[in-house]
Order: sequence, then C-alpha cells, then structure tokens
Amino acid sequence: MSEKIYIFDTTLRDGEQVPGCQLNTVEKIEVAKTLEQLGVDVIEAGFPVSSPGDFNSVVEISKAVSNPTICALTRAVKKDIEVAADALKYAKKGRIHTGIGTSYYHIKYKLRSDPEEIIKRAVEAVKYARNFIDDVEFYAEDAGRTDNEYLARVVEAVIAAGATVVNIPDTTGYCLPDEYAEKIAFLTNNVPNIDKAIISTHCHNDLGMATANTIMGIKNGARQVEVTINGIGERAGNTSLEEVVMILKSHKDLPYYTDIDSTKIIGVSRLVSTLMNMPVQPNKAIVGRNAFAHSSGIHQDGVLKHRENYEIIDPKDVGIRESSIVLTARSGRAALKHRLELLGYKFDKDELAEIYFRFLELADKKKDIKDDDLRVLVGKSVEKEKPYDLKLLQVLCGKSAVPVATVKISVNGEELTATASGNGPVDAAFSAVNKIMQKKVKLEEFLIQAITRGKDDLGKVHVQVESNGQMYYGFSANTDIITASVEAYIDALSKVI
Ligand code: KIV
Ligand code: ZN
Repeated sequence: MSEKIYIFDTTLRDGEQVPGCQLNTVEKIEVAKTLEQLGVDVIEAGFPVSSPGDFNSVVEISKAVSNPTICALTRAVKKDIEVAADALKYAKKGRIHTGIGTSYYHIKYKLRSDPEEIIKRAVEAVKYARNFIDDVEFYAEDAGRTDNEYLARVVEAVIAAGATVVNIPDTTGYCLPDEYAEKIAFLTNNVPNIDKAIISTHCHNDLGMATANTIMGIKNGARQVEVTINGIGERAGNTSLEEVVMILKSHKDLPYYTDIDSTKIIGVSRLVSTLMNMPVQPNKAIVGRNAFAHSSGIHQDGVLKHRENYEIIDPKDVGIRESSIVLTARSGRAALKHRLELLGYKFDKDELAEIYFRFLELADKKKDIKDDDLRVLVGKSVEKEKPYDLKLLQVLCGKSAVPVATVKISVNGEELTATASGNGPVDAAFSAVNKIMQKKVKLEEFLIQAITRGKDDLGKVHVQVESNGQMYYGFSANTDIITASVEAYIDALSKVI
C-alpha cells in the first residue's frame, strides 16, 4: 500500500532568509496562494518574532490560505512562542515550529549549555507551545551532527511533552545519504513513543546531497519532508520540492505519494524565481531551462522517434508543454524539419536540403537558432506575438506642473496612442493606459521596491488590480520606475478576462 508523504514548504521562511530574496507581504500572499494550489500540506510562513514584517506576513497568509496548515517558526523561547501563537490566530490550521540546537557544537559553542539542560529547555518549549495550539513541531537543530543515542532521548522527551512532528534537520548539509538514512532508522526503531509523532526531514544542500538525504529519510521512516521551490534556502539551499515530488512520482516502485499537482510545478518555480530575483540555473533538475531541452543531433533524432529514448519525465507532468529541440550547428535534418512543421511550414526533400544548408551556415555564426531566425530563413517575415506591448511612454511632470502622460501601446500588432493627466506621473500614465486597454478594474495595490540601493538602481513594481471579484497581479522591473509601473500595470490588465 502506498503511503502519503506530507509536503512542508519552507520557501517563505528558510528560502526567504537568502540575502536579496526578501518579499513583501503582497508577494508572500501570492506565493502562498500558489503553493496552496500546488497542493502543499504545510506552509512555513515566517518567523514572527524576527520582525514586524514577518509577523504581519504570517497573519495575512493565515487569512488568505485555507487548506494547508500554516506554520510559524520560533526558538525555544517563551516570547517567540507567544508571538508565533498570536500571529497564527487567523489560521484555520496552525502549527508552531519550535526547537533548539542538539549537536555538540551547538550545545557547547552556541548555547553554552549542557545536554541535560537542552532536553529540559526543549521539553519546556514544546509544553509551552501546546498551551496555545495542538499542532507543535519540534526541530533538533543540527541533528545531522548530533549523536544518535542523545538525539533519540531528545526526540522521546519532546514527543512525551506533546510534539506532533519531530524535525531532524541536517542543518549544515554534512550527512552522507547512508548516514542520514541510519539516523532516521535509528529513531524509528529506538524511540519508544515514535508512533505518536511524524518524523520530518529538513536537509540542506551544502554538499549537494539534500535531495538524496531526503529520499533516504523517507525510505527509513520519515513521512514529512521540508522543502523549498527551486531548492532555495540558506547558503547552498534546501531540498527542492520539485525534485522530491518528481522522484516519488517517476519511481513507480517506491510505495509513496504526495498530494502535489505536479503540472503546476513550472508555474510556481517561475513565480518564485521572478519575485525573489533568483534565477534558476539552466541545468537545474526538473525546472531548469535546459531540463527538457535536447541539443545534440543524436539525442534530437532519438527523442523525435520516441520521447522515452531520452526522457524519464513527460514535460507535461511538470507543466511544460513539450520538450524543446534546441537548434544549433549540431542539429540534424530531422530536428529542423520538426521545428519547421511546428511553425506551420512543410517542404519536400529537396527544399528541405536547401534550407538545411542555409541553416548550417547561419548556425555556424549564431549560437542558437530561434523561431524568428527560421522564419527569415524560409523567407517569411518575423511576427511579434506579445498582445500588449508598451512602445512609448512620455511623461511631463515637475513642481507646479500638471502631470501629463502619453502612452503608445501595441495591441495585437496595432499601435494605439492616448494622453491623460493625473495627480502624479504614474496616475496620469495609468489613466492613459486605461483609455487604450479599456478594462474595468480597481487598483488594489501598487508597490515600488529598489533591488539594491544606488541611484541607478533597478525598481521592481508590483501591481494588483481587482475585476469582478478576481485579483490580477502584474510585475515589471526597470531602472525607470515610471516605465516599470506602466509595464506592471499593463501586465496586470492583460491578464484580466
Ligand atoms: O536548518 C535548520 O536547522 C532550520 C531549522 C530552524 C528548522 O532551518
Ligand atoms: Zn534550514
């Protein structure tokens, strides 16, 4: 019988700790709602005592999200626990995640304490948290480097104190997969009350073993995994959600399942990468730009004959329409013919040979050949497909001047111009956009953020509009913040049905 693995997503806590990845509350809500649609079981929404912003995000996410449990992190400190309980007051299902370091390093050098005192503090924290909430998860920080006998004593004590989940973090990403497997197996077999709690993995990727360790944890008794989208997180990151989910889904021999709708993976990955300004490495498993791209002629031919020759995952399963055949100087005729057919062109053998000859000439000069290049190659004009494209923005504003903006937008290829005034340059520009796009919306949120801190900084703009009870988000980044604002507004409006 297949057993469920609970997906605990910590993108908004461990992931968000990464320098430069901070999100504001509106962005966190957008990510949380997307995680809910993805089907995660638990969302770790923040560390409420750490800042008013984190507190507020936990409150707002608790209000905005219904299905997943909302979890708040604390240290084994009463004040942290009280603040977390307060932040979770609107959660339909809330969880406090409290804990303390248990390794020799943490006990001696970080906490300057001793092993018995740590057990006492761990137990007190769990008991205190249980006064506020029924669902309490305990983390034994640096469990990866904690002696297994001692770890078993800690785990037994916190379960007896009321912990419902026991998290065994490999905080420094040091464990080898067989070591981590042994650790989880040791707890499964030696903690007398282990059946009263769920064991959770929380692996960091410092040595590139986070996913392997997580899978070994599952195989040895863990039933919850703590993961992040795109594997983001402290230092080298956390175990990536998409890798664990797709390993369990593609290895039919493993008797486990998750409730994740894998077809939504790519959308969430792109959203998190964009909002956090954290590009995904091209060769990243599952979600990297090249994860389903075939570039050598032999592979391209093989995949076109039968997809499974070179693919273990159907790209549709993660939300990608199809794998891509990257056209380079190493591509063969089969790949070129296939791409041309997808673009709607059919040629006989001789014509194709001629085009292929010209294609190779071009491919020698240009690294990778795009669809537009092919259209030029076959003598067709290049078509641009963006339905709404800002072509021009001119703003007149300043002290004592009435702000006036003129915008030119290409709407399905037709260029339309409008001018409007407003109480500021952005207001004027938005009014001009409204004249062209004519969507009935209410501006709900408009946020400008600087990515770094110089005067030549890139401004990130988030816009949220409401139409018929439905929210639509738009985003853009530009060194010119008025342009970024107008682009973000057009982006949001273009999504309104
Ligand atoms: O890596 C870690 O140990 C953590 C804990 C706070 C759960 O993130
Ligand atoms: Zn962590």
